[in-house]
Amino acid sequence: MNAKQFAAAKAVSFVENDMVVGLGTGSTAYWAIEMIGDKVKKGELKIKAIATSKRSEDQAMSLGIPILSFSEIDQIDITIDGADEVDDQMNLIKGGGGALLREKIVASNSKELIIIVDEKKMVKHLGKFGLPVEIVIFGWEKTFEKLKSLGCIPTLRMENIQPFMTDNNNYIVDCAFGEIENPTSLHESINSIVGVVENGLFIRMASKVIVGFENGEVREESRVESL
Ligand code: A5P
Repeated sequence: MNAKQFAAAKAVSFVENDMVVGLGTGSTAYWAIEMIGDKVKKGELKIKAIATSKRSEDQAMSLGIPILSFSEIDQIDITIDGADEVDDQMNLIKGGGGALLREKIVASNSKELIIIVDEKKMVKHLGKFGLPVEIVIFGWEKTFEKLKSLGCIPTLRMENIQPFMTDNNNYIVDCAFGEIENPTSLHESINSIVGVVENGLFIRMASKVIVGFENGEVREESRVESL
């Protein structure tokens, strides 16, 4: 097993029968979904799930994990997701895989958000990883300029020769801010730009961060007041 798998296994140990589970997106969440699928297949776990991307939904369905829509649930018990950076306040940058909007909707409707990462994702200050911002396509050039005026170097995310398209049919702009001194005010400034749908800063949303190490060690940090 590698560091991501160790973190995923620890997170999956918090999943109990009859829970509604939010399934994250990315190469770390992938392992959590595989492990949940394995338990479901063996009859060790009976859960229902809601996915943060089409990719994760397809993976879950292929493993026999029952998938629900928001109209069928009141609340999500636990969400397990990855992150691109985690600071020492447990604030996050997410969206490297382009799923930040659905991830934030699922996280904000979860009683508990468990973030699983390997040690390389832990930082003192957020911002070395370019902040993903989801924007609508209409007028994107103007939204792009407004993001630039906040002091970043923006790049429209591409996939081959076309702009990358999210599951919600929007574009992503990756904003290189460098060290982010005040994530809360930056979050507000970005989301107040008309044309921005959501950004990848997850402030005080994680209730638990599980860090996996290559040697099998797993470290767990919890927030007392969450969501
Ligand atoms: C997906 O949009 C992201 O938010 C991922 O959760 C994040 O990029 C972490 O992905 P990895 O686990 O692949 O590093």
